[in-house]
Amino acid sequence: MKMSWLNRKRIDDDIMTATVNDEGVPVIIEQGNKSINHNLVDNRLVTLKEPASISAEQFRILCTRIAQLRQDAGSYVLAVTSSIKSEGKSFTSLNLAISIARDFDEKVLLIEGDLKNPGLYEYLKHPPGFGLTDVLEGKIDIDACIVQMFDGQLSVLFAGKTTGNPSKLLSSLKMQEILTTAREQYKYIIIDTPPIMPMADINIYSTLVDGILLVIQAGKTPRSLVKKAISTLAADKIVGAVLNGVEPIHSRYYYGSGYDSY
Ligand SMILES: Nc1ncnc2c1ncn2[C@@H]1O[C@H](COP(=O)(O)OP(=O)(O)O)[C@@H](O)[C@H]1O
Ligand SMILES: [Mg+2]
Repeated sequence: MKMSWLNRKRIDDDIMTATVNDEGVPVIIEQGNKSINHNLVDNRLVTLKEPASISAEQFRILCTRIAQLRQDAGSYVLAVTSSIKSEGKSFTSLNLAISIARDFDEKVLLIEGDLKNPGLYEYLKHPPGFGLTDVLEGKIDIDACIVQMFDGQLSVLFAGKTTGNPSKLLSSLKMQEILTTAREQYKYIIIDTPPIMPMADINIYSTLVDGILLVIQAGKTPRSLVKKAISTLAADKIVGAVLNGVEPIHSRYYYGSGYDSY
């Protein structure tokens, strides 16, 4: 017997095997492609593709700052957001997570929290499959859909199926449980969250995370918009800003991402 949700085209039969337990509930026993070949990922992941670049160096500086924030706490959960979409949240979250895993040799979990516009699949060239949405809906255990890179140093929880009402799902107790359990397993948890505007879904995450990092697209996002966006956030949670896409002419920040204390 197969439950209907298992029949969706999205879930490729040949990468997935399922069985049914005594209660008639499908139990996923294996999801294929559980690891990502880091040689194949997108060239925009500068921390991996150009580790000697100024941009990769900026990410290492950012890692050091996050490590300082964690101090002796067991874990640190960081939400990466921006005023509007396409300012580089996914770019920043991924490069930061890679740098923590590779340069700092720490275990990190990267969660795709932008359920409406997930960007991590494309960067990591990973086919859509189960992810956070499915875990929140109770369809699959989190361990069955976490995908690993660098021998498990970096774990990625993709978005999963696009859902009509992410806000409701994210507000559920289950999301809190996911993070509580993750805190026991990872020193660093990075959540690539939705932009602050127009929906302010980020505020759902605000209460669950230790810090919020604001990505600002340099030279493009108007200052007034950034100010307005920040005013809707829990101010005490904002730990810094990344000026993304700075041209070399701005000597203070160089090309790529510059980090600024907020
Ligand atoms: N520093 C950067 N250098 C080069 N391309 C970038 C940089 N930051 C973002 N981009 C590109 O800009 C686009 C939007 O970035 P993305 O990280 O997907 O934004 P968001 O997650 O905030 O919606 C993508 O095509 C991404 O590759
Ligand atoms: Mg994104």
